[in-house]
This record gives sequence, structure tokens and C-alpha cells, in this order.
Amino acid sequence: MDELIYLDNAATSWPKPDKVYEYMVDVYKRCGVNPGRSGFDKAIEAGNILHDLRQRLTVFFGGDVSVPERLCFTYNATDALNLLIQGLLGNEDHAITTNLEHNSVIRPINHLVRDGGVTATYIPFDGQGFVDPDEIKKAITSKTKLVIVNHGSNVIGTVQPISEIGAICREKGVLFAVDVSQTAGMMPIDMIKMNVDILAFTGHKSLMGSTGIGGLCIRKDVDIKQTRSGGTGVRSAYPYHLENYPYRMEFGTPNMVGVASLWAGQEWMTERGGVEKIHEQEMALTQKLLDGFNNIEGVITYCSNDLENHIATMTINIDGMEAGDVGIMLDVDFNIATRTGLHCAPLVHKQLGIVEIHGGVRFSIGPFNTEAHIDAAITGVTEIAERARGMKKARLHSTNK
Ligand code: ALA
Repeated sequence: MDELIYLDNAATSWPKPDKVYEYMVDVYKRCGVNPGRSGFDKAIEAGNILHDLRQRLTVFFGGDVSVPERLCFTYNATDALNLLIQGLLGNEDHAITTNLEHNSVIRPINHLVRDGGVTATYIPFDGQGFVDPDEIKKAITSKTKLVIVNHGSNVIGTVQPISEIGAICREKGVLFAVDVSQTAGMMPIDMIKMNVDILAFTGHKSLMGSTGIGGLCIRKDVDIKQTRSGGTGVRSAYPYHLENYPYRMEFGTPNMVGVASLWAGQEWMTERGGVEKIHEQEMALTQKLLDGFNNIEGVITYCSNDLENHIATMTINIDGMEAGDVGIMLDVDFNIATRTGLHCAPLVHKQLGIVEIHGGVRFSIGPFNTEAHIDAAITGVTEIAERARGMKKARLHSTNK
């Protein structure tokens, strides 16, 4: 195929719907001024779009619509996760998280463990890629302040039992935060029903927005300490950062182009029939890809036997080959874009025992992928697996000489 086959949607979705590109330009040209800082019409229009998006995303995440100001915008999920982790954990606090986390959780927690008197427990996943809520329950101590769990793995694609974990946290009086970077826009999320206190999301993946915007959705009665301060556009004479939301978690001029992208992304999702429909379509392609891979000799899949509670992301290896080499062949010989390596989630690879072979080859499907793309990926991997078998034979032959 001459056309690039983009199977790296877990890194960032691409392409975006035309509507998203168009609305970004439209808003930036029409009212790309600083919202909430001035009273002229364009500033009010920009402020209205921002406020409207807070409400819209609160509904989308099943949050409390009476407090849309608790939907706060950040630069991305890493930024949101840093704000919540640093704002909640202090000396002598204990945090529980999992081996499925991205470095955006692992690293901020590890810094606090190394430098801030925090302790942390990492719960492993089982052979199918799921964390057992009972293991989390067992790890809770009187010092546990926060449980933070990845909703959908960016490596193996498994979706964790959030409601069950949330119920345990509620019962034990421990705060529960969920990283929905990979699931927001890919599967339904209902913060209240799932017993979630804080959601951290990014805009540039399945929400179909641009890079440079993400956010937090914070339950009423949960407060995150500010770890930054700056301009808010209101009460400028006050010498400290404002404590009320959204200002509490927002610092400086917002990313209005990103706001426009997310607003249009929401419109597009509704037109496409909603998140359930998008998920169904992506999972049908994922099943086709998995069936194809299962028929290729030498292909190893991880935690993907059953695609129940799964997103459209999976990682494979080809026996006898480095993940990076497979990725280069897919790119150069077949025009297929994947992501190889450790995917910023080293503990997943460590637990799977594939750090030594430099991780795996990740395929992640988005709403613009087609059956033809999946056929091409299966053909590409089939040919590379054949090459791997040929190389293995040649090696054996030369050692036997
Ligand atoms: N977190 C993104 C990924 O998984 C960048 O590729």
C-alpha cells in the first residue's frame, strides 16, 4: 500500500476528524484571545467555549454536573497526573499503584518515594493482564492516602475493574484516582458509578483533540493542594494562587486551540454514534488482527487471548527478532507505523519478561483504520515472521557446520 497505515493511535490518534482541524482554525481566527482576562466580546466568546467544554466533558465522564468548574484543563495527562500526585501525597503517606502504569505515574511517585518520605506499593497484574481488586485491598494500610490505577493499559490493552477497586477505596476511605489516557473516548466512563474521585485525561488520543491539552475531573469534596501558582485572570491583587476551582488547578493562559479541538472532538463523537459505537468498531478490527496474529507461526501475543475488557491496543513479538527490528521492517518495507520498545511503561515489560529483548511491537487501532489496514498488518507480520524463521534456520545451519 502506498498510503501510510497508521497503527500508533495509542501514542496519539491520527488523523483527526476534519471537523477538529477546521474548528481549531475557526476558533483561533475568530476569538483566539485570552479568555477570562477581559470583558470585550471576543474574550467573552472564548470564555464561553471554555466553560461549555468543562460542562460537556463533565457529562462525558459521568462527573457531577453541578460542579463543572472541577473539570480543570492541564497540558496533557502527564501534567494532570503530576498535579494530582504531588498535590495529594506528602511525608509518611502511602500510595498504591500497579505494574500497568505509565511513567507519568511511576516517575512522580518514585520521586516522592526517593525525596519526599512517601512509600509506595506496586501491585502486579495476573496472567491475563488484570489487577485483582483484592490485592489492592490487602495492600491498604492506615497510611494509605491514594490508590492510582491505569484504566486501559497502553501496552497490553487490558481494562481494569475500576468500579470494584473504587468501591474498596470508598469503603476504606482512601482516595482513588484513575488514569484514563487510553480509554477516554474509546470506551464509556462514568466517574460517579465507578466510584472514582479523580480522573486524569489527555486530549490527543481517543478524545480526538490536539496535543497540548488534558485535564483533571475532581469529585466535589476532594481537594488537591496546589503545587504551582500564577495568573488566573481574576483577583489579581490577591498575593497567592486562588483556592477555588478551576483556578486552583489552572495556571496561566489556557490552550484555546486545544479547547477548540476537544470541543469539536466531542461533536464528532456524537455524530459517529457515541463512544460505544466507536469502541465496537475498533474492537472488531482488533479481533481480526488478533485472529490473524494467532495464525502466524512465531508470533507471541501478550494478555490478549480474550478481548473482553480490552481496548484496541495489543503488543506482540516475533520469535528470534528484536522488537525494534520488526518495527523498522514494518515501517520501511510495509509502510506501517507502530510503536516499539517499552512504551514508557517499563514495569509491564519487566513483568512480562521482555525488557531484555527491548520490549515489544505495539499495534493500536483508531477510528479511521479499516479492514484493509488490518489485512496489510497481518501480511507484513507474516512475511517478517517468515524472515525470522529463515534467519533461525541459517543460524542453526552455520552452528552445525
Ligand atoms: N503514552 C503514549 C504511548 O503509549 C505516548 O505511546
